[in-house]
Amino acid sequence: MLVLGIESSCDETAAALLEDGHRLLSNIVASQIATHRGYGGVVPELASREHLRNICPVVRRAIEVAGRREEEIDGIAVTQGPGLIGSLLVGLSFAKAMAFALQKPLVPVNHIEGHIYSALIENPDISYPLLAAVVSGGHTSLIFSPEPGQYRLVGRTRDDAAGEALDKLAKFLGLGYPGGPVIDRLAQRGDPHKFVFSIPKISDGSLDFSFSGFKTAALRHIERAGIRPRQPGGRVGRQIVDLVASYQQAIVDTLLVQTRRAANQLRPASILLVGGVACNSLLRRTFKDAFEGSAASGLDSKAWGREARRTPVYFPTPSLTTDNAAMIAAAGTPKLASGSPLQLDLNAYADFRLC
Ligand code: KG4
Ligand code: ZN
Repeated sequence: MLVLGIESSCDETAAALLEDGHRLLSNIVASQIATHRGYGGVVPELASREHLRNICPVVRRAIEVAGRREEEIDGIAVTQGPGLIGSLLVGLSFAKAMAFALQKPLVPVNHIEGHIYSALIENPDISYPLLAAVVSGGHTSLIFSPEPGQYRLVGRTRDDAAGEALDKLAKFLGLGYPGGPVIDRLAQRGDPHKFVFSIPKISDGSLDFSFSGFKTAALRHIERAGIRPRQPGGRVGRQIVDLVASYQQAIVDTLLVQTRRAANQLRPASILLVGGVACNSLLRRTFKDAFEGSAASGLDSKAWGREARRTPVYFPTPSLTTDNAAMIAAAGTPKLASGSPLQLDLNAYADFRLC
C-alpha cells in the first residue's frame, strides 16, 4: 500500500511516500526555521503563509523523489491536529483537494499518534504493550498503548513542554532558535552539576511533568551569578555552557524519573522515545542506559524502585524524530488498510486529543 503523508501542524511543511508502513520512498521537509528565527519562536500567521507557499512544491517533490506517479498512490494521510489552526488548515485543505482529484481515500491522523508511529517505521516488530514518551516543543506526555491504535494518557506536562523549556532558556540567553539542538551541542562541554536544579515532586503521585520551575530557577542562577546573555555573534562563556548543561540534565532526569515510574507500574514490552526532543543525545543515552543497561544511569538507583528491569528503548533517526510526514503516512497506513472512505468533510482541530 502506497501512502502519501502530509504534515503542516507547526513550522514544517512536509510530505512523504511510504510503502507498506515501513519502506520510506521519500521524506521531504521544508523547514521555516529561517523565517521564525528572528522572532525567537514560531509566528503563526507567517507559518500559515509559508505553508501555502511550500505545500505544492513539497508534495510534488515527494512524489518525484519516490519515483512514482500520483495515480499510484493508494491513499492520503494528513495531520488533523493538534497544532496551529492556520497551519493545519493548509495541509488539510490541500490533502482534501488532492484526494478528491485523484478519487483516493483520505484519513486524518493525530500528530501525536504520528510521533508514536515514527519509531515503528524502522522497527516494525516493536512489541506491545508499549509506553511512549512523546517529548517535543509542543507536547510532553506519557502514552500507554496496549495494542496498535489504542492509547491511554498516563502523564502529561502541567505547564511547559520540555522542548519549550529548552527553547525559552536558549532565547533568553541569546543562543538562537530552536534552542534544543544548540543546548544539546553546548552541554557536551559543560558541567551538568555546576548549577543546582531540584526535580519537582508532583505531590499527588501522578505521572505528570512540570518544567516551568526550572525556568524560574535558571533566572535565579543567572541573576546570582551575574550571567549576561550572549551578544549577537559573540562567544558563549563558560558559565552559560555550565548553566545549559545543568538545565538540560534536570530536564532529562525529570523525564527519566517519571518514565521509570510509569514503566514500573505498567510493565510495557517496549519504551518509545519520540518527538523533536528525542533527538537529544543525553536523553537518548540516558534512556538506553537506564532501561536497557544493568544500572540506573548515574542517578541514585533508589529513585527508580527495586523492580527495575530491562526494557528495549526505541527512538527514530533524527530526520524522523522532528516533525515529518513519513510518521503521518505510517500512522495513516493501518487506517487506510481497514478500508477508510474518502472523507471530504474533515476539519482541523488545534487542540485535537489522542486520548
Ligand atoms: O517534534 P517537533 O519537531 O515539533 C513539535 O511537535 O513540537 O519538536 C521540536 C522541538 C523544539 O523544541 C526543539 O528545540 C527540540 O524539539 N529539539 C531538541 C533537539 N532537536 C530538536 N531538543 C533537544 N535536543 C535536540 N537535539
Ligand atoms: Zn511534533
